[in-house]
Amino acid sequence: MAGILVLEQELFPEDAWTPEMFAAEFAQPPSRRLYLVAEEGNALIGYAGMMFTGGSQADVVTLAVHQDRWGRGTGTALLTALIGEADKRGYEEVLLEVRKDNPRARQLYLRHGFTEIGIRRGYYQPSGVDAVVMRKGLR
Ligand SMILES: CC(C)(COP(=O)(O)OP(=O)(O)OC[C@H]1O[C@@H](n2cnc3c(N)ncnc32)[C@H](O)[C@@H]1OP(=O)(O)O)[C@@H](O)C(=O)NCCC(=O)NCCS
Repeated sequence: MAGILVLEQELFPEDAWTPEMFAAEFAQPPSRRLYLVAEEGNALIGYAGMMFTGGSQADVVTLAVHQDRWGRGTGTALLTALIGEADKRGYEEVLLEVRKDNPRARQLYLRHGFTEIGIRRGYYQPSGVDAVVMRKGLR
């Protein structure tokens, strides 16, 4: 948790989740959430989370990699693991929101077969930045 909070502040300075938000997420049962971390030695270099709705839809709720480690496939590895788990659990589609002003992340998702299906105005708070909604069908 300590390592995640440091990265969260660095990578999402405008919309960082609070310790209470992470604690509430980690308290969810494994049937509802999956959180993964990427480590290098003992250091945490990334994390990602997925919400399983219980219906047909799984959502990528967060994905983050330490800036010094960008471009080495860590984000891809985390995203691929989440999608693989949704597939294994029989989910039909994966959805996510990404900041409109985040071309790097949008590219990563496009390369992994997501398509942009809509905009949520002012989704990110307190910044008020729009979210792009992206979807990938699994079957
Ligand atoms: C978006 C994010 C998670 C991507 O993580 P990453 O570890 O850099 O992702 P990858 O390395 O898998 O892929 C990114 C790039 O590296 C390239 N790459 C992948 N594996 C590589 C390798 N082994 N060697 C060299 N380059 C590689 C990819 O082709 C990709 O290329 P691009 O520069 O054209 O985009 C990361 O930039 C991040 O944490 N950003 C801030 C937080 C954020 O925006 N999260 C998403 C919220 S929705």
